[in-house]
Amino acid sequence: MTNQHKGAFISFEGADGSGKTTASKYLLSYLQEKGHKVFWTREPGGSELAERIRALLFEYDMSGLTEALLFSAARADHIQKVILPKIEEGYIVLCDRYVDSSFAYQARGRGFYNEVLTLEAMVAANCMPAHTLFFDVTEEVSEERLAQRSIEQNRLDNEKKEFKRRVFEGYHERLVSNPHRMVRIDANKPIVQVCADVTKWMDKFVETLQY
Ligand code: TYD
Repeated sequence: MTNQHKGAFISFEGADGSGKTTASKYLLSYLQEKGHKVFWTREPGGSELAERIRALLFEYDMSGLTEALLFSAARADHIQKVILPKIEEGYIVLCDRYVDSSFAYQARGRGFYNEVLTLEAMVAANCMPAHTLFFDVTEEVSEERLAQRSIEQNRLDNEKKEFKRRVFEGYHERLVSNPHRMVRIDANKPIVQVCADVTKWMDKFVETLQY
């Protein structure tokens, strides 16, 4: 039987190689096995139109502003067509990357700070996550993990070291300015331990959703 509870929205953030995708997919099966209504999605993408925009973002060279606008356009569609309806239906929605990625990469990484905050207010003010699990990993560990991956890298994966440093700083800035929403996960630990930590956190969170 399905566990009945209110819907909820949790996002997962962190640098490339932080383990957030592995951990969020692990939580998906963990919660499903326990009988919860749970839905995994990702950004950029998550709706049909947003997945088309994702392909454009990876394929074309573009200015930082165009990039910020396209990520936001994809997000607006994803929110309207997928995230809000699923929460309404009582699902726990797990989203791999969301507004904090735009802050870290476009606001801090590319320097479009005011623009990104304006877009965030326009697009996501009515759909902010209850909590965001931030997978905090050092640059060294992130680099090591990425080097082990054999999958093809996209345009956005090949950024310079300076850019990556600004992304790390951007995430930490958000962590400090959103102490209630953002939950720091020590992602330098082995992935098995990271999964155990997020599961423990999730068990407690789910208790708060019961009617
Ligand atoms: P993806 O292949 O999904 O990688 P990951 O496993 O790291 O999530 O690539 C997503 C890329 O898009 C990643 O480099 C971060 C970037 N991104 C932004 O720059 N801004 C955003 O708002 C989002 C959602 C992603």
